[in-house]
Amino acid sequence: MQKKIKKVIIPAAGWGTRFLPLTKVVHKELIPVLNKPIIHFLVEEAVASGIEEIILVISPRKLEILKYFNVNSELEHQLKKSGKIEFLHKVKETNSLAKISIAIQNEQLGLGHAIFSAADLIDNEPFGVILGDDLIKSKVPALKQLMEVYYRTGNSVLGVQSIPKKDISKYGVMNPKNQLDALKNEFAIKGAVEKPKPEEAPSDKAILGRYIFTPELMPLLRTLKPGVGNEINVVDAFEPLMKMGQEIIAFTFKGTRYDLGSMEGFVKANIDYALEDELINETILNHIKTKY
Ligand code: UTP
Repeated sequence: MQKKIKKVIIPAAGWGTRFLPLTKVVHKELIPVLNKPIIHFLVEEAVASGIEEIILVISPRKLEILKYFNVNSELEHQLKKSGKIEFLHKVKETNSLAKISIAIQNEQLGLGHAIFSAADLIDNEPFGVILGDDLIKSKVPALKQLMEVYYRTGNSVLGVQSIPKKDISKYGVMNPKNQLDALKNEFAIKGAVEKPKPEEAPSDKAILGRYIFTPELMPLLRTLKPGVGNEINVVDAFEPLMKMGQEIIAFTFKGTRYDLGSMEGFVKANIDYALEDELINETILNHIKTKY
């Protein structure tokens, strides 16, 4: 019987340079898909996966993100006074989505460092990680899919999908050791490489923003030196973790993933969600059909 996964870390302290100049004033994790910021979807995914506490890793200049989850009494009072009850409900929903805690990453030294910044809030327990700019639209929440693999095996789990060769150098890429299931959805890994050149990539399976880690990961992160990109990369902890006798499983999750840290991902997500929104889908579809 595995220990229950109660907490998820959402690293959200990065600079968001790929989305400049917007991210000069709008934090990447607040970029909208229709009328909600990405972070709203990510918190919903965690809650729908059965997570009890969400730890947001932010930098001191990104405290604004917290405002989204805090009560705004003035706004609520105004909406009540003017009888805009439907909007009042929408606002109130954001105050009660989940138990949210904060960890501060003072310097943006990389994803491994961001996860380690939350170490004091994680006891000796397994935990999940959801990247603050990766939205995954799926029937079963992506994190829950990974959690099921963890509960079945007791191993750390990386959420992966196949990526075209030309794009592979944007990602951490898993190096497969052996296939664990008939459907080729699960592989034990022998390693992972951060942002490889296409010709050096060990597979086409990129790690895309969802992880489950066993408790042993945190102390290993403390020991890491900067690697590719001069950052402290979480993939560099995989080898020492495996040397401790642990397996790491790369699991191909089902769902459409949008990189909201990039313009293409942002536009694709907004088109897809708009075309599924019954209030606006007809208008948007007509617009596309007549204009293009
Ligand atoms: P990215 O590498 O995509 O974020 O990290 P970034 O550094 O903000 O992006 P660019 O390349 O400058 O545009 C994935 C997630 O990890 C967080 C980011 O906020 C993002 O949600 N992150 C990254 C941290 O919290 N701290 C870091 O040091 C790096």
